[in-house]
Amino acid sequence: MKVLVIGAGNMGLTYAEGMSKSKLLKKRNIMVLDSSEEKLKELDQISHFDAFRELEGCVLDADIIFIAVKPNHAEKLLKRIRPLAKPEQILISIMAGTTIDTIKELTGLTKIVRAMPNLPAKIGKGLTSFVASSGVSRVELLTVESLLDTTGKSILVSDENFIDASTGISGSGPAYVFYFMQSMMEAALQMGFSENVSKILVSQTFTGAIELFNQNNLSPNSWMDKVASKGGTTRAALDSMNDNNVGELIKEAAFAAFERAVELGKEKEYV
Ligand SMILES: NC(=O)c1ccc[n+]([C@@H]2O[C@H](COP(=O)([O-])OP(=O)(O)OC[C@H]3O[C@@H](n4cnc5c(N)ncnc54)[C@H](OP(=O)(O)O)[C@@H]3O)[C@@H](O)[C@H]2O)c1
Repeated sequence: MKVLVIGAGNMGLTYAEGMSKSKLLKKRNIMVLDSSEEKLKELDQISHFDAFRELEGCVLDADIIFIAVKPNHAEKLLKRIRPLAKPEQILISIMAGTTIDTIKELTGLTKIVRAMPNLPAKIGKGLTSFVASSGVSRVELLTVESLLDTTGKSILVSDENFIDASTGISGSGPAYVFYFMQSMMEAALQMGFSENVSKILVSQTFTGAIELFNQNNLSPNSWMDKVASKGGTTRAALDSMNDNNVGELIKEAAFAAFERAVELGKEKEYV
């Protein structure tokens, strides 16, 4: 099996690196294409990928075409793929907002997977939600899943609407965590800790809390009850968050991202 990754940016290279570790692919069976000379020079340094500049030299050889360019480049690129593509090829797109119907229409292909990654994919801890068109068989879906799993975990969703919804949770989610971390670090600084100590206090607290959560089958609410005793310090903090409606505001923020993802899908220039 051969995979062609189009767009050697942040995400494209992350997935190319991840997939290169897949047992499904033999070495040198990942082709990477980019339009930028600078990127191609960088690719030359990475010996395990065959780098391409022109679609003509590589699209035909690919079993799976993985598209990782910005959505505003989608229309031009997908139209150029059309005359070169073969019906049995699977196209995986991680372009935000570009729908399966649009990809089908522009490429003429029927085996389409739309995926939504997140940033921790860079360190193999990502979450990719994905949805497939009916043209993708069960066996092909398993192949796609194991390729996506090489950057962390993947979740197959039943409907494209859940791709936009997962954008609001896992896609944009790392930024919500960083937002929380930033506020806690600022509080630590105001309390008089140095920048370095503030960073350690916050990062180890997040790491520890997440490990506890992952290693046990308890809800976040149960964990909060375990940490907070009546009249204690944690209860004072949680009461303050509840009084300020922080929980509702976080939900509102996640929905704002979800709604924006839906809007982007409808905006012509992103298609
Ligand atoms: N970054 C994230 O956290 C994230 C999360 C979820 C989804 N995504 C999606 O992932 C996709 C890629 O994002 P990114 O951050 O990796 O973008 P990026 O770093 O800008 O990488 C895209 C690369 O593709 C190249 N390119 C543009 N048009 C091309 C074409 N026609 N043929 C070949 N290469 C082309 C670009 O070259 P130039 O620089 O010369 O244009 C650039 O090197 C986007 O569609 C985004 O919606 C990203």
